[in-house]
Amino acid sequence: MHILVTGGAGFIGSHLTEQLLDTGNRVTVVDNLSSGKLSNLPEHSNLKFIQKDILACKAEDFTEKIDAIAHLAAIASVNFSWVQPLEAHHNNLSATLAVIQLCEALNISRLVFTSSAAVYGNPSQLPISEEHPTAPISPYGLQKLVSEQYASLFSQKLGLSSVGLRLFNVFGPRQAPDSEYSGVISIFSNAMKQGKPITIYGDGKQTRDFIYVKDVAIAFTKALLAPLEAGSCLICNIGTGKRISLLEIVDIMKASFPQWNAPINFAPPRLADIRHSQADILKASSVLDFMPDGVMNPEIVQILAG
Ligand code: UD1
Repeated sequence: MHILVTGGAGFIGSHLTEQLLDTGNRVTVVDNLSSGKLSNLPEHSNLKFIQKDILACKAEDFTEKIDAIAHLAAIASVNFSWVQPLEAHHNNLSATLAVIQLCEALNISRLVFTSSAAVYGNPSQLPISEEHPTAPISPYGLQKLVSEQYASLFSQKLGLSSVGLRLFNVFGPRQAPDSEYSGVISIFSNAMKQGKPITIYGDGKQTRDFIYVKDVAIAFTKALLAPLEAGSCLICNIGTGKRISLLEIVDIMKASFPQWNAPINFAPPRLADIRHSQADILKASSVLDFMPDGVMNPEIVQILAG
């Protein structure tokens, strides 16, 4: 297959690109390199790279037949969406609509795109299934929710089959650790590598469903290939189905960074921090045959330790 991966030079997109190439596919990556890096991508004869904003792409940019689009280009930051909501809206919502229009122009029948657990807001029950009410508490969550609604509407109109993957807390190599709003595991592993202190916001007993980035890439691959009805939009949680507290994470990580002995600081909880999060992955396992391997364990932390 020939797959167009938007945001393919980014954290998750580059792992997906690698997996698609490894399994014999051709990949065209479109990335504006605002957060992605060329160094995330392998040198490969089946890989073509276009440095462009997806909002500026036209059908003429793609001369070879494309079979499916995996849309991962986004500004995946809750905080950014509060500080610059219009810019976030363009990159997270308008961009999805632009990709849907590309599907129409290029006569593409399968679209897989990133949604987020942020669509649920504060969960009222755990684990969170796709039937849980959606009530985003950030512009980011709202942009992802409306992206799903656009995909559903246009899938019917165009006879497209689309899949929105509601990602839980993704971690793994290439996740940028350098902002206050980076994923907690990348922040902690970076601090531990440098012998620096870490800060736990709250009591550390909050839990998250941390999913390894290579498992997320597998979920995308499965969603690209799943036999689905034309005109349908499938929405699936992608997590491990398990939750783990921050204190447990720190314990696991300490074992992989035995030289680290800097202090653990405690600070007040972040504003609107969710207490617990855990995906119900029954739908992903039954419809996509998705079963994650890499639950947070010392072997994976070892990879993060480099
Ligand atoms: C995550 C997603 C976000 C999504 C939300 C949906 C990431 C990076 N973010 O946010 O896009 O909207 O789920 O529910 O996956 N923490 C510390 N110390 C730190 C950094 C974080 O204690 O240095 C704590 C946070 O306060 C939080 C937990 O660790 O309680 C996880 O934080 P984070 O990795 O930023 O993810 P979420 O806030 O869960």
